[in-house]
Amino acid sequence: MTQTESGVDFDNIDYFTDPALVPDPYPYYDYQRSQCPVLKTSNYGVVAVTGHEEASIVYKDADLFSSCIAVGGPFPPLPFTPEGPDITEQIEAHRDQLLMSEHMVTMDPPQHTRARSLLNRLLTPKRLKENEDFMWPLADKFLDDVLANGKCEFLEEYAKPFSMLVICDLLGVPEEDHEEFRQMLAPRPGNAVGSLDGNTMDHNPLQWLEDKFSAYLEDRRANPREDILTGLATAKYPEGDTPEIIDVVKSATFLFAAGQETTTKLLSAAMRVLAEHPEVVDRLRNDRSRIPNFVEEMLRMESPVKSAFRLAKKDTVLGGVEIPAGTILMINPGAINRDPRRFECPHEFDIDRHNVREHLAFSRGAHSCPGGPLARVEGRVSIERILDRMTNIALDEEFHGPAEDRRFSYEPTFILRGLTDIHITFDAVENPER
Ligand code: HEM
Repeated sequence: MTQTESGVDFDNIDYFTDPALVPDPYPYYDYQRSQCPVLKTSNYGVVAVTGHEEASIVYKDADLFSSCIAVGGPFPPLPFTPEGPDITEQIEAHRDQLLMSEHMVTMDPPQHTRARSLLNRLLTPKRLKENEDFMWPLADKFLDDVLANGKCEFLEEYAKPFSMLVICDLLGVPEEDHEEFRQMLAPRPGNAVGSLDGNTMDHNPLQWLEDKFSAYLEDRRANPREDILTGLATAKYPEGDTPEIIDVVKSATFLFAAGQETTTKLLSAAMRVLAEHPEVVDRLRNDRSRIPNFVEEMLRMESPVKSAFRLAKKDTVLGGVEIPAGTILMINPGAINRDPRRFECPHEFDIDRHNVREHLAFSRGAHSCPGGPLARVEGRVSIERILDRMTNIALDEEFHGPAEDRRFSYEPTFILRGLTDIHITFDAVENPER
């Protein structure tokens, strides 16, 4: 049994439910990796992959490792008992019963390839550039609202509405509808995470979103215009056949689920570093070319996706460890991105790290995040404008306590890693350049 300084028993703790690991999961990941980078845990038979090289192999091999349980891992339990050395047929027979089976993140090729091809119209370099042009004034709009107060809760007042409206723009939601999206998808009391599951909300935002997009796309199929929604509505599969409206809707609306919370977590983690390390702010202010590296190092250090899962389809061996078909593998980006075999002094924040781009915060292989380029730009644009418009950024001690005794709260979930709130104080820059 291994007890840590805080008295946590790493061998027997339930990673999925125990809040003790939420504030700082990294010592636990290190402990697991020190046992073996591919480690069978006491948690529901899950095998934890904490090695960078081993995780890359899993991510890249969709033939051996199915994404059908990508989001929930051992929850809910599989609706079948795996039998034999190859469970491909069992997976296919039960696929519809699996969590989020209608979304591309849980699909395997060839179904996955088709679903993902529908996004290709959307994520072109031209579209991403237009989306960036939309971001600059958007960042200023939200900063305008908070600057006069000299303080704000950065997640609610900047990161969440910013990242949501960026996706609205990406999808071509008409600007006159943006406020409605903000109202309908904003977190409400009783739904602290602001997620799209809608369980505790007085309306179901995912259903609302799907209805809204169905209406847009049906309208554009009937009355094509020169706009992005028309491009989406008329996109065809690579084989030339036209998808059902609902399949396009699922691809489009999933972007809100996949791209919003993750990006807000990146932005809030970055704000924590800016507020705690004035020397980093000075460095970035004096050399703006370091901002992209800062964003990468942030993704490496505080990877917003905390766990991604795969189900072994066939008996195999990974990192010298036998993996029978039916094994649930858990990849923790926060663990593999701090693997000392890949990153020197992995727990140090270093904006000059030469190989930072090797981090796997956006995964690898067929499911590698299509929103990565966009999230990177959201980070860069936000930091540029924050540096332009705020000075003396500091944590608000009323909420986070004094320097020698800081308090932070992280979302109590194994799926994502991120602060629940970050309160800052600052001075507004007089007459910033735009
Ligand atoms: C910092 C921000 C983000 C992070 C850390 C992140 C991370 C990830 C990761 C790790 C995966 C792969 C999951 C797996 O392999 O099982 C993924 C998939 C995905 N992400 Fe992101 N993401 C971010 C932002 C975005 C944005 C802004 C968008 C959309 C505009 C987006 C859209 C998607 C989609 C559609 C998928 C599913 C892809 C597939 O299954 O083929 N993500 N993301």
